[in-house]
Amino acid sequence: MKEYKELIKEAIKARNYAYIPYSNFAVGAALLTESGKIYKGCNIENASFTPTNCAERTAVFKAVSEGEIKFKAIAVVGGKINEEVSEYITPCGVCRQVLAEFCSEDFIIISAKSETDYKIYILKDLFPGSFSKESVL
Ligand code: THU
Repeated sequence: MKEYKELIKEAIKARNYAYIPYSNFAVGAALLTESGKIYKGCNIENASFTPTNCAERTAVFKAVSEGEIKFKAIAVVGGKINEEVSEYITPCGVCRQVLAEFCSEDFIIISAKSETDYKIYILKDLFPGSFSKESVL
């Protein structure tokens, strides 16, 4: 699908900015809003490790801080720097929780090795039984 390819292309671009002195594992993400905008994100590591931010959360936080809170899809591309991407990676548990805050159950997660080689998931399948704002409000 053309929309998926475009999103993967942006995730690949974002991956170039990954700040990864500790893992050498570079991740790029591109988040599509319901209004049609794309927010890119990369992983940003830290010497103290815990503050490390994944590419997916970087993209979500950039979007939310610009007033966008409704999302349709995210593309994710990750692997060791200077190697061909060999794995389909999916958002970690923390990122799934953050996505669940803003996204519906049918939110699309595109896990890509390249523009033409990718897998599609929906949030409900990757993060069933999530803790949500309905429980808190
Ligand atoms: N990472 C992401 O950015 N996204 C994921 O979906 C999985 C992991 C980052 C965190 C850390 O900088 C590196 O990849 C290795 O775990």
